[in-house]
Amino acid sequence: MTSSPVNLPYFDRILQLLAAGDPATITAFGKHVHWGYWEDPSQAKHTPEDFRQAAEQLTHEVYSAALVGDGQTVLDVGCGFGGTIASLNEQFTGMNLTGLNIDPRQLDQARQNVTARPANQITWVEGNACELPFPDASFDRVLAVECIFHFPDRRQFFQEVKRVLKPGGYLALSDFVPQAWFLPVIELNATLSRDPGFYGHSNVQYSIETYRQLAADLGFQSHIERDITANTLPTYDFLIKSGVKKEIDWSQWSAATQTLLIALVSRLHLVTYQILSYQKPE
Ligand SMILES: C[S@@+](CC[C@H](N)C(=O)[O-])C[C@H]1O[C@@H](n2cnc3c(N)ncnc32)[C@H](O)[C@@H]1O
Repeated sequence: MTSSPVNLPYFDRILQLLAAGDPATITAFGKHVHWGYWEDPSQAKHTPEDFRQAAEQLTHEVYSAALVGDGQTVLDVGCGFGGTIASLNEQFTGMNLTGLNIDPRQLDQARQNVTARPANQITWVEGNACELPFPDASFDRVLAVECIFHFPDRRQFFQEVKRVLKPGGYLALSDFVPQAWFLPVIELNATLSRDPGFYGHSNVQYSIETYRQLAADLGFQSHIERDITANTLPTYDFLIKSGVKKEIDWSQWSAATQTLLIALVSRLHLVTYQILSYQKPE
């Protein structure tokens, strides 16, 4: 198997479990590797199948924020195993879809998982979100589902998106967004913890105010700011239950501690989960 230029132990683990044919991992994380969205969180069943459906719904919520429709050229940055591209391929027609990822192992998996429907085209590209290997004004839509916190720099990413979007095009993303007053605690935690642990390098230090400033600096018009924290909370019960039952193996201590910490700050609404979208002016 090819190696990865990024250190994301959770992906190493998921890839191992997928290769071993682990049924719970295949169901829960074989297509999307992100949190779930439950319209009514009280109805969550905390099973791999329920999580699979909720993860699919989160993808729909994100691409809806970019007004994706038939006949568009769409770039999905940090495309994981190609789940968002697969959903777009299933839902829309006349699409020119590109999935970009820094990890060739995930792209191998995406190529195996997703076949373009006759009216659509799909291209998989290895690359860095902050140095997009595409000409100016080449996409109608750019998506980044739950991955921007891994990128080297949000501002560079936004600059690159502004460059590759056509005038009038949209960017939609989902991200963990802390309350501004809680930022010093997160910054202190980041300074003290040398080892990025199970979830790898993650910068969760961008408040909604910082996003607004970034958009204003780059001339993006903010389209949607949607706090969906409450709709994602069953994710934590699922991950914790799966870890305890060893359905999803938390092989590292940091897998459990980091997951419990994110669960706590999310339940206390200190760190929110947001869908954000922006339009490049005409
Ligand atoms: C939580 S996963 C989300 C995957 C996918 N978007 C999904 O929703 O299933 C984060 C993704 O970001 C990718 N990634 C991390 N750093 C990246 C970078 N600098 N450029 C491109 N992709 C990156 C990882 O390889 C991984 O696929």
